[in-house]
Amino acid sequence: MAWWRWSGTILLIVFAGAAVVSKDQQKKEPPFPLNLFARAKPEDYVGEKECARCHKPYFASYEASPHALPMRDPKAPLDKRGCEGCHGPGEIHLEDVEDPTKVIIFTKATERQVALACLRCHADTMRLSQWHRTEHARAGVSCTSCHQIHRNPQKERNHPSLLPGQAPWTTNKKDDVALLKDTEVNLCGQCHQRQVAQFRLPFHHPVLEGRTNCTDCHDVHPSRQARRKTNPFKGTCVTCHAQTIGPFVFEHDPVAGWSGDGCTDCHQPHGSPHPALLKSSSRGLCNQCHTDKGNSHFPGQTCWQSGCHIAVHGSNTDRFLRTP
Ligand code: HEC
Ligand code: HEC
Ligand code: HEC
Ligand code: HEC
Ligand code: HEC
Ligand code: HEC
Ligand code: HEC
Ligand code: HEC
Ligand code: HEC
Repeated sequence: MAWWRWSGTILLIVFAGAAVVSKDQQKKEPPFPLNLFARAKPEDYVGEKECARCHKPYFASYEASPHALPMRDPKAPLDKRGCEGCHGPGEIHLEDVEDPTKVIIFTKATERQVALACLRCHADTMRLSQWHRTEHARAGVSCTSCHQIHRNPQKERNHPSLLPGQAPWTTNKKDDVALLKDTEVNLCGQCHQRQVAQFRLPFHHPVLEGRTNCTDCHDVHPSRQARRKTNPFKGTCVTCHAQTIGPFVFEHDPVAGWSGDGCTDCHQPHGSPHPALLKSSSRGLCNQCHTDKGNSHFPGQTCWQSGCHIAVHGSNTDRFLRTP
């Protein structure tokens, strides 16, 4: 990966310039925890084996994690290797192990401090400014509310025969890769119970059944994949329901995205008491927009059933959407 090489070069420049700029740096120190890295000298990095002496369980879980392989790369710059890449240079910590300002304690750090520490390396996924525009960052939710870096290898080894009361460890491959604390439904559901409950309505997207995921439709943060999506809702729906948007000879404005909010004008995305996840199974659905007098013909049935406007999404043969 290119950033190893780049950050190596940058680090050398920083060290070379350190003597010259040290006075300025003292005046304007970067915020915690970046200050730990900024003031560290190469000999302040003691290496992960040293940490293992006193923190065995954390060493074991780190070793089993996807972070271990790239962070053991001998080509990686010192400040991005092993435990110290995340927790800060060891020598400073060893000056006084009880001092919480000399090591990064993620479980006690603020949302902003955690983001600063993680995004030193994950600028590829998102920049700090992008993260801080998300609903989650603004509400004080931190990277470590959703991601768990040290996983419990014991717990995983015992899966699926977990002890009673033990939270099930993630079994979903996708969640596994992203180091999530739990399956998406359980994780997101901790804070979004109301939305999870909507997936129990009679007609719903098969999220609880494991066939779709919250992040198929939501980008919880600007991720690499997210950049491919343009329109957050219509664009998302169409990745799985391509047939609904045609193109048709006779488009229906809200479906084509020419007016309104797109698919959610008529559908409840999570779940609904009405078939096809509709907001309503009465004429009221169409009357949201079609308020002209003509809309009262054939009362007693919905506009799209009984062989009427069956081509609600658009038609290739009939301007009034009565045949596909
Ligand atoms: C000589 C033993 C020793 C070594 C070596 C050592 N630590 Fe520590 N560390 C401690 C002690 C003691 C504490 C404070 C007591 C505690 O809470 O565990 C501590 C605290 C911490 C904490 C905060 C824990 C908390 O819950 O408050 C972190 C994080 C940490 N060390 C990481 C590291 C890393 C990373 C390294 C390697 C660079 C390292 N330690 C090396 C002994 C050590
Ligand atoms: C990729 C970043 C990362 C790496 C690498 C890493 N840790 Fe951690 N560490 C964390 C995070 C985040 C937490 C908070 C709990 C969690 O997410 O599992 C944590 C928790 C801890 C704690 C408990 C105190 C705290 O910060 O809450 C100790 C002690 C610790 N790590 C030691 C280590 C040691 C020793 C290593 C190397 C063997 C290491 N860590 C490698 C990110 C990291
Ligand atoms: C020292 C650099 C570094 C730091 C700091 C760091 N990571 Fe990573 N992280 C990596 C590398 C390298 C990978 C594996 C390569 C990749 O990006 O696919 C990785 C992988 C991940 C993955 C899995 C991505 C995937 O595609 O499988 C997640 C999730 C993650 N990190 C979250 C975090 C969080 C949360 C923090 C802060 C607690 C953090 N990282 C801190 C370097 C780092
Ligand atoms: C609300 C929960 C949540 C929060 C908060 C969160 N993430 Fe994630 N993250 C996820 C989920 C879910 C995925 C996997 C699905 C996806 O990519 O959308 C993921 C994927 C990732 C990946 C790997 C995939 C990629 O696209 O690169 C990295 C790295 C990552 N997150 C880092 C972070 C960092 C760093 C922070 C904090 C600045 C953070 N996350 C905050 C839920 C969260
Ligand atoms: C630690 C709690 C927590 C977790 C875990 C969490 N969220 Fe959130 N989420 C929030 C908070 C707080 C907000 C801010 C708005 C609010 O209060 O609803 C929010 C906002 C959102 C919004 C935007 C709401 C809006 O009005 O625009 C979406 C979408 C969302 N979360 C989806 C998810 C998904 C998907 C996951 C799982 C990957 C997740 N959240 C995990 C707490 C959480
Ligand atoms: C099929 C796509 C899809 C899936 C799957 C999905 N959502 Fe949504 N979600 C949406 C859309 C679209 C909206 C916007 C609703 C609107 O504007 O009427 C939304 C809105 C939200 C909101 C904002 C508040 C609200 O209710 O309007 C939250 C929070 C949320 N979803 C959480 C979740 C969680 C948690 C999951 C997984 C358990 C999930 N979503 C799964 C499409 C989806
Ligand atoms: C990740 C793929 C995926 C995405 C994205 C997605 N869906 Fe679905 N959708 C499904 C699956 C799977 C079903 C269930 C089909 C089944 O049970 O045969 C479904 C079912 C539906 C149904 C009911 C179909 C029926 O025959 O009753 C509607 C309506 C629907 N989705 C609308 C939407 C809308 C609106 C969006 C965007 C907010 C969306 N979908 C996004 C996969 C997806
Ligand atoms: C003007 C209202 C309206 C809009 C906007 C709309 N739909 Fe529909 N949709 C319906 C109605 C009504 C049905 C039920 C048709 C039936 O029962 O024959 C339906 C059925 C569906 C179905 C299940 C049957 C099928 O045709 O496959 C899917 C999937 C679906 N819609 C997806 C979408 C998507 C994706 C969008 C956005 C691109 C969208 N809809 C926009 C009204 C709408
Ligand atoms: C979000 C608003 C909206 C909703 C909801 C909606 N439509 Fe439309 N529809 C439009 C617009 C805008 C047009 C194009 C302008 C016009 O002719 O009124 C249109 C055009 C039509 C046309 C073609 C009429 C013509 O004169 O060319 C038919 C038929 C139609 N809609 C049927 C329906 C049916 C059936 C429903 C309910 C399933 C529905 N519409 C729901 C906005 C909507």
